[in-house]
Amino acid sequence: METIQNIPRHIAIVMDGNGRWARKKHRPRFMGHKKGVEAVREIVKTCSLLKVECLSLFAFSSENWKRPEEEIKNLMGLFMMALEREARSLARNNVRLQIIGDLSHFSEKLQAKIKQVEELTKDSDGLRLIVAANYGGRWDIVESTRDIARTIEAGVLRPDDVKEDLISDNLTTTGLPDPDLFIRTGGEKRISNFLLWQMAYTELYFTDVLWPDFDEAELKKAISDYSSRQRRFGKTSEQVIADKKAAKK
Ligand code: IPE
Ligand code: IPE
Ligand code: MG
Repeated sequence: METIQNIPRHIAIVMDGNGRWARKKHRPRFMGHKKGVEAVREIVKTCSLLKVECLSLFAFSSENWKRPEEEIKNLMGLFMMALEREARSLARNNVRLQIIGDLSHFSEKLQAKIKQVEELTKDSDGLRLIVAANYGGRWDIVESTRDIARTIEAGVLRPDDVKEDLISDNLTTTGLPDPDLFIRTGGEKRISNFLLWQMAYTELYFTDVLWPDFDEAELKKAISDYSSRQRRFGKTSEQVIADKKAAKK
């Protein structure tokens, strides 16, 4: 595999466009989701090979419950099947899987399966694969805030102890670096309540490619676009260049 400069440590993806992919082919929406799982497999493999540390995938948002019952049922079934089929291969490929989101709304069977696959892959020290299911960025912040409020009520912390790090540490993504690169397929240009707090300084990349068509080549295009950007974090361009030079010495 050719070398790409400046690989992001953490890539976060809103996998959008499954329904439109299916419609274009005159197939039921479900077929788009099914094909989407294949795209997930290819992207996970590529991220592993590229030594990306962390890949976060938005699989089901807290707003997606508004969809027709039939589609939700199909999505849950597909999620279950993917976990069953991929568990061993994730472990074999040294991928650690973690699901974030409010899992209490899922069936007992699915919750048990999630626990089982997380357990099976917990010792992997390769790619960290985060799948967001019934996740919402605002939900994550609300939960974190509630946890902190409780510790203050219990007298363990004082209001002055509430700092950025404390909030970050209480989010579901605790311990992970913030995303460097955000990708959204399917042409829409919005975040749709994904990792809101964590993406304060993430580079955003939007593509019209529909998720089932997003492959290794498309991922590399996104990474190469990312590598050409200058991340300034509030500094001037000259300061960033000087910092880079100093770091090389
Ligand atoms: C994304 O594809 C998958 C989920 C939200 C589960 P969509 O199902 O949103 O596809 P479009 O946007 O209708 O094409
Ligand atoms: C965002 O896609 C959520 C996932 C990909 C799981 P949607 O298709 O649900 O987003 P909106 O509703 O168009 O913003
Ligand atoms: Mg969509």
